[in-house]
Formats: sequence, C-alpha cells, structure tokens
Amino acid sequence: MNLEITHAQFGVRPPVVKPIPEFLIEVGEEGIRTLISKHYDKIRESSIANIFPQDAEEFAQAKVNSADFFIQICGGPKYFNTNRGAPQMVGRHAPFRITAQARQTWLELYKPLLEELKEQGITETSLLSFWGYLNIFSIWMINTQS
Ligand code: HEM
Repeated sequence: MNLEITHAQFGVRPPVVKPIPEFLIEVGEEGIRTLISKHYDKIRESSIANIFPQDAEEFAQAKVNSADFFIQICGGPKYFNTNRGAPQMVGRHAPFRITAQARQTWLELYKPLLEELKEQGITETSLLSFWGYLNIFSIWMINTQS
C-alpha cells in the first residue's frame, strides 16, 4: 500500500478531504477506537511522547477524545462535539510544539496499523482515503518551525 507522506511547507494548509463513508462502515466505531488506542500506545514509546500527556488518566482520556473526533469526521455520531465542543483542531493543537518532524513521526506510527487493517480485510480504497485525510490534515497542525 502506498502510504505517501506529503512534504509540508510551513504555514501552507492544503485543502482537506474527509475519509469516505466506507472507512467507518468497514472498520466500525470499535475498530476506530482500537486503531486510535494503538496509535497512542505507539506515541508513548516514540520520540514525540514528550508533547503528549504523561499522566495515565489524562493519556487514557486523550484516546477517548481523539477516537470521538475520528469517528465523527468519518461520518459517525457527533461524539466530539457533544463531549468537547467545536473541533477547532488547529487551536486545540496550538499549546503543543508541533514541528514537521513531529508530524512525520506521528504519521509514520499510523503506517503499520493501517497495514494491519489491510491484512484484516479492510479495503485499500478505504484505507487510502483515511490516510489521505491524516496526511493532509496533519500538515495543518504544524505550528513550530524546525
Ligand atoms: C489529522 C491530524 C490530527 C487530528 C485529526 C488530531 C486530532 C486530535 C484530537 C481530536 C485531539 C483531542 C483534542 C481535545 O479533546 O481537546 C488531539 C490532541 C492532541 N494532538 Fe492531535 N490530531 C492530529 C495531528 C496531530 C499531530 C501531527 C500531533 C503531533 C505530532 C498531534 C498532537 C496532539 C497533542 C499533543 C494533543 C493533546 C493531547 C491529547 O489530547 O491527545 N496531533 N488531536
């Protein structure tokens, strides 16, 4: 599967396309929660762990908030809006120093998880659509020059 990472130019926010509805239909809400949980577990073992919550309870809550968002953006119930309010993702990421390198690491950690879903039978079309969303929207979160 060609999970390409687009080069990010600081301050440039390319247009974002949401994942196709098939992604949520195929993976399911619980599948998305598992995916996000595994991604956070990888973050905890990575070079970007320091910008994420260190406290176990806060870390567990971060998984819930993130999964709420991803289910919502994939066309599911508006869990994030209900529990956290308007997404305003750029603003919510502003307190954290996110460099192009941090975004790259964050994306790289998703790759084996999406390959795993492919092995489990999720279609490449759906996975590439989800990846496309992550790849582009993650550029928006870069707020610190390397
Ligand atoms: C597609 C791109 C991304 C999406 C959709 C996304 C989504 C989210 C969401 C929904 C939250 C929880 C916000 C809240 O409840 O207040 C969050 C928090 C956070 N994100 Fe992201 N994020 C993205 C990219 C990134 C990247 C590239 C980094 C850093 C490398 C990052 C670092 C963080 C940090 C440090 C937090 C705060 C702790 C936490 O709640 O997890 N995010 N993100």
